[in-house]
Amino acid sequence: MDQGREGKGRKNHQSSSYGVRVATGRYGATMSSAGDAITSLYSARAAHAPPPPNQPPDFPVRVNFDQGLPDPRYFPVERLKRHLVATLDEHGRDALRYFSTGGASEMQYGYLGLRDELARWMARRDGRELDPEGIALVNGSTDGLALAVNAFLGPGDGAVVESATYPHTKRYMAMTGAVVRSAALDDDGLDIGSVEEQLVRLRADGLRPKLIYTIPTFHAPTGTVMPLERRRALIALAAKWQVMVLEDNCYYEFAYGTPPPPTLLALDESGFVLQSDSFSKYVAPGLRMAWLAGHPAAIKAIVRVRQDFAVSQLLARALERYLAAGDFDAHLVALRGHYREKRDATRDALWKYARPWVRFREPAGGFYFWLELDERVDWDRARAALADQGIAFRPADRFADDDHGHGKADERRFVRISPIQVPLEDIEPGIAALGAALAAAVASPDGQRRER
Ligand SMILES: Cc1ncc(COP(=O)(O)O)c(C=O)c1O
Repeated sequence: MDQGREGKGRKNHQSSSYGVRVATGRYGATMSSAGDAITSLYSARAAHAPPPPNQPPDFPVRVNFDQGLPDPRYFPVERLKRHLVATLDEHGRDALRYFSTGGASEMQYGYLGLRDELARWMARRDGRELDPEGIALVNGSTDGLALAVNAFLGPGDGAVVESATYPHTKRYMAMTGAVVRSAALDDDGLDIGSVEEQLVRLRADGLRPKLIYTIPTFHAPTGTVMPLERRRALIALAAKWQVMVLEDNCYYEFAYGTPPPPTLLALDESGFVLQSDSFSKYVAPGLRMAWLAGHPAAIKAIVRVRQDFAVSQLLARALERYLAAGDFDAHLVALRGHYREKRDATRDALWKYARPWVRFREPAGGFYFWLELDERVDWDRARAALADQGIAFRPADRFADDDHGHGKADERRFVRISPIQVPLEDIEPGIAALGAALAAAVASPDGQRRER
């Protein structure tokens, strides 16, 4: 048994081959003084790294509307098991090498068979033929987003993000030394005029604008979908400014009614769109398998900066089979049905229990409801009451820290609801508790906020 893991080896010392007394298990008193010395060795990037955003709630959670997670009840465990076993049965050692049929470039781009399969899948969806050098497999889209950021940004460069955005990407951008500015969002997603204003500002400040990051379809956290004309305008803007657009597409497949407009990559004739997509929400996040797609020159920058040997051969081969067998498409159809039910249940419950205190738009797809709170609501108070019941929601200030709306400096206040991982039967009671907490946290009849 691993004693350290069990926490039983703490005081159990032994001599190492270097003749030094080391603590087995957790680091004991003999080593505690090393902590400061090790910290002094940190690289500048490690020393100054911004804290990770979006920590989970700091109270025991019973109903989790906070995190944007897929529902584990629908992870296709049996199908994946079948394809993993079949991969080992059929390909044995080849599935366990650094690279295989696609040659050594698989250590940069990832297993060729899955890239080919994805290229076919994307050709069906987006009507766009991609070269194998136009796709790189990555370890989750966060890896892909970090690689894209590192491939294009450094000190002296500028990037534009949405005023409420996926905070990890913003964090990676900040860590490159680039300047990151926010552009406004409205009901149709990113405001293209505001993007151009930021590009102008960056240039006026002596910086080189290089990258625009957007989640155009079923936006996180606001749920909006960028209409076709705006998509075209964004691509035209990127072409005019000769800057990359990083399209985070990880919710695209979750349309619960009318399909969304084509992806930016599908519409792009300029070559400046780099698309990030992932199996995390579509299949399971623990797979850590995702891909970047775009112009081979853009993908070349990705593989130049990556510092791994791409992705697991075994997993990539199993997923190749999963796609080729039609299981991926069938799974997406089933998921859309389950998730649509949750979207509908959330909408109905919000109407029933929270209507006087919130404004919201029904999301046409994806994972998120974005609630604007009535100004009379004291959210801190409502949130504390909900925390006491173990019900978690995510306040908007986790997504932005600027003055372009939706953030800390905004007069209006927003809350994100992610009902997708919540069991269907818990949605209505959870939203009923939200409604009750909001009602209890409004100003008293004389218009004054109640004392806390
Ligand atoms: C907008 C967005 N992009 C990227 C990710 C990261 O997904 P993964 O790294 O699991 O592919 C998430 C996860 O919540 C997300 O919401």
